[in-house]
Amino acid sequence: MERLMDRQALRRWRMGCGGRVAFVPTMGALHAGHLALVAAARQHADHVIASIFVNPSQFAPNEDFSRYPRTLEQDQVLLEQAGCGALFCPSVAEIYGDGCQTTLRVEPLGSDLCGRFRPTHFQGVALVVAILLNLVRPDQMFLGWKDYQQVILLRKLVRDLALPVEVVGVPTVREADGLALSSRNRYLTPADRQQAVGICRALESVQCSWQGGERRLEVLLASARQVLASFEIRDIDYVELRDAETLEPLLAQEQQSVGQRPVLLIAARVGSARLIDNRVLS
Ligand code: PAJ
Repeated sequence: MERLMDRQALRRWRMGCGGRVAFVPTMGALHAGHLALVAAARQHADHVIASIFVNPSQFAPNEDFSRYPRTLEQDQVLLEQAGCGALFCPSVAEIYGDGCQTTLRVEPLGSDLCGRFRPTHFQGVALVVAILLNLVRPDQMFLGWKDYQQVILLRKLVRDLALPVEVVGVPTVREADGLALSSRNRYLTPADRQQAVGICRALESVQCSWQGGERRLEVLLASARQVLASFEIRDIDYVELRDAETLEPLLAQEQQSVGQRPVLLIAARVGSARLIDNRVLS
């Protein structure tokens, strides 16, 4: 695997690629979820390139940018084993030069859901992904459905700006007990870890009610909240049922009877970690 540190090395690598190029953007601290993206990308493309860049612009000043786990050497081994062809790991200056004056706002989606609690987060994500796409120029970009809003938002960005890339979503990889893998799970103490699985249990419980025919929005949401409470998860940012394609709120008439294919999304704080998870009900 080639390790590319700057734009020039990336350009050289890119010019040598014949056929289809798939791109897997990450912030490192890699786990099996990230590696599933690489595996999916390998099935679709002739060349797979991952990036590792802990993007300062998507963290607010009070968030975990400085303590975000950085495990580059280990990440490199994992990517190599997963069959990734190249790794782009630029410095902050390589991406943003001497200060970027451009902002990219995908609105209103970027201010909704996680955006309500992390107001500048998706601007940072949109900006860095646009820059990375311009540098890498892949045919496809692979993203995890674990970050559901991120997939929908980046699909919208790609469509709005007519960027020549296909966005492919990959199912969430979970621990044996159902907890979604996340780089932030490292922040969980053993006690937090026991609580954290409650998020997944809440999603399963709603899925179960849904399969049993329950369609009342309030009843479905209340059952999720009840499971979270039973795991003593009290610091909840949101529990929402939304349209799975657009993430728009369900229509008024759907409050009584939720329509086809909604997605249940949960964001909650457990210990010092903010965790998110989701499930499409169908
Ligand atoms: P990061 O959190 O490192 O995640 C990189 C990619 O891995 C994202 O597409 C994310 O959805 C996916 N991923 C994380 N956990 C997963 C899991 N358990 N199963 C499947 N996929 C999973 O998301 C980001 O970085 C950044 O916002 C980024 C897009 C790189 C822009 O900086």
